[in-house]
Amino acid sequence: MTLKLQGKVALITGSGRGIGRAIALKLAGEGARVVVNDLDDAPAQDVVQAIRDAGGQAVACVGNVGAPDFAARFVATATGHFDGLDIIVNNAGYTWDNVIQKMSDEQWQAMLDVHLTAPFRILRAAQPVIRALSKADSEAGRRVVRKVVNVSSVAGLFGNAGQANYAAAKAGIVGMTQTLAKEWGRMAVTVNCVAFGLIKTRLTGNVADGATEKIDGRDIKVGVNPDLMAAMERGIPLGRGGSPEEAAGAVYLLCIPESDYVSGQTLMCSGGLTGI
Ligand SMILES: NC(=O)c1ccc[n+]([C@@H]2O[C@H](COP(=O)([O-])OP(=O)(O)OC[C@H]3O[C@@H](n4cnc5c(N)ncnc54)[C@H](O)[C@@H]3O)[C@@H](O)[C@H]2O)c1
Repeated sequence: MTLKLQGKVALITGSGRGIGRAIALKLAGEGARVVVNDLDDAPAQDVVQAIRDAGGQAVACVGNVGAPDFAARFVATATGHFDGLDIIVNNAGYTWDNVIQKMSDEQWQAMLDVHLTAPFRILRAAQPVIRALSKADSEAGRRVVRKVVNVSSVAGLFGNAGQANYAAAKAGIVGMTQTLAKEWGRMAVTVNCVAFGLIKTRLTGNVADGATEKIDGRDIKVGVNPDLMAAMERGIPLGRGGSPEEAAGAVYLLCIPESDYVSGQTLMCSGGLTGI
C-alpha cells in the first residue's frame, strides 16, 4: 500500500508537544520526512526518536520561531538534510491573556511575533526554495503540489474576551493565508488554515496545576480555569474538547493529494462550535 505522503518533506513548528507533536507523528506515519521544531530540545528530540523508532525519518531544528535567524535555519535544515520541501505547518504558539486595559505592549507584541511574524518569515524564507523546486518540476513534466497549513483559532475568527493580542494575530494569519493562496498558486502550492476550537493540550490544561513555559526569558502561565473549560465544553455541539490526534487529522486533510484543489480556505476543527 502506498502511503499518502511517501517521501514528502514536512516542516512543523512547535511539534515537540500537543497538536504539533500529533501532526508530526501523523504525517510521518504516512511516509513524510519531518523537520521537528520546538522551543525546548527534549520534547523535540523525543518526537524525532518516536518517528525513527517507528521506521520513519525526522530531524530536529530546535529554537524559538520568533528569533530573526530561525526561518533561514529551519528551511536550510529541510533542504540540507532531506533535499526537499513539500509541506509547511505553522503551528508553534502559546497564549498570554489579559483584558485590554491590563495588556502591556510586550504582551501584545509577543503574540504578533509568534503567531504572525514567525509564519511570515518562514514562508518568506521558503519562497525561493519552493520557486526553484516548482520550476524544476515543471521542466521535468512532474506535477507536484506543495502544501502550507497555518494554524489559527476560533478566537481569531470570532474574538475571545481576554485575548485581543492572540485573536488579532490568529485573524492576521487568515489574511496572510488568503493572500499567499493567490501569490503561490502559480507555484502549485495550496495555502490553507485550520482554526481549532478547544483541543486538550498543555495550553488548555488546568491553570491551577501552575504549569509555566519559559519563552524569551519570561515565565508564561499555561492553562485555563477548569470551570470556564467545562462551560466551554458544554457549548460544543459534540459535547467535548478534541484530542491532539483529532486536531492533527484536520491538518492532515489539507496535506494529502485529495485536497490538491483546495486553497485559501480556513477549516474549523472545533467539534461543531461555530462561535465563542
Ligand atoms: N489547544 C487549543 O485548544 C488550541 C485552540 C486554538 C488554536 N490552538 C493553536 O494550536 C497551536 C498548538 O497549540 P497546542 O495546544 O498544541 O499547545 P502546546 O503548548 O501543547 O504545544 C505548543 C508547542 O509549541 C512550542 N512553542 C511555543 N512557542 C514557541 C516558539 N516561540 N518557538 C518554537 N516553539 C514554540 C511549545 O514549546 C510547545 O511544545 C498554537 O498555535 C495554538 O495557538 C490551540
